[in-house]
Amino acid sequence: MLDRVENLKSQVEATVITSREEADMFRLQYLSKKGAITELFKAFRDVSAEDKKAFGAALNILKTLAEDKHKAALESLDNTQTVGLSGDLTRPGTPHELGAIHPINAIRDEIVDIFKRIGFNISTGPEIEDDWHNFSALNFPEEHPARDMQDTFFVQRNPDWALRTHTSSVQVRAMESIQPPIRTISPGRVFRNEAISARSHCIFHQIEGLYIDKEVSFVDLKQVLMYFAQEFFGKAKIRMRPSYFPFTEPSAEVDVYWGLENEIDYKITKGTGWLEVMGCGMVDPNVLKASGIDPDVYTGYAFGMGIERIAMNRYQIPDIRLFTENDKRFLEQFKTGL
Ligand code: DAH
Repeated sequence: MLDRVENLKSQVEATVITSREEADMFRLQYLSKKGAITELFKAFRDVSAEDKKAFGAALNILKTLAEDKHKAALESLDNTQTVGLSGDLTRPGTPHELGAIHPINAIRDEIVDIFKRIGFNISTGPEIEDDWHNFSALNFPEEHPARDMQDTFFVQRNPDWALRTHTSSVQVRAMESIQPPIRTISPGRVFRNEAISARSHCIFHQIEGLYIDKEVSFVDLKQVLMYFAQEFFGKAKIRMRPSYFPFTEPSAEVDVYWGLENEIDYKITKGTGWLEVMGCGMVDPNVLKASGIDPDVYTGYAFGMGIERIAMNRYQIPDIRLFTENDKRFLEQFKTGL
């Protein structure tokens, strides 16, 4: 009887299991109800009393050996499967979905490129600004309503730190750090303490432009904006309406002629045929002075535009909230097919 145990033991030891089917066969052959090891257990009662102890011990060792072997085989088969070494290697994988460039980034890059082509470089500044760069250096009077809690998210009071309300703060940083000629654009995120609606958001994006040199005039400003309108909108008819900003004098708002031929033109331009795209003007001498530039030697122009507005117009997006909601159905429309 002990010989039969030893025989089975060497058979079990010699078996190599390389697949799930072989593991099943092994279980059936040795460990199932009719398996060889189970059969030996049944024979236990026929063993003589003095051999029972040795036989039982040997049998238990054999059973544990077979069970361990079966279990180890299954585990290693599981592992090989997760690293993909078995199974059908020719099956196509799960397709990777490509993302789309966000419309705000696409428009920003397009505008930045237009200005880069005529020698503007890019500058950036912090989103949390001190009072000096966001307001004081830009000639905002102490009591100016834009400093009010209604418009500004203050992070700290006395000294004031706030989320910047416009990218004009980067103008100041540029003028403080380099001497003219300065020709720079500054794209970035800005924050206003305003109720969110279809047309306005408390977080949006702007692109600021600044050009400072000797003898820069309003004609240069108009010319560069004509070029921008031609490149971006494909329409070069612009008009400037007088406006007010503390940091420019004179100041203007710029409209691009859109046309008024159909219902869509009517909606986009609110019935005027003109699309309002930015604020601009000649940099106020006080602003130059505040940043360490001599206004008797240098002059310059600045402009600032909102990216959301321009993107809404370009893609006919009716609600500004769509830009930040991350709805895949919205974002997927901007896939470029790369
Ligand atoms: N900072 C202004 C705003 O947030 C936009 C602006 C107007 C920027 C005129 C300029 C400018 O540089 O000259 O509404």
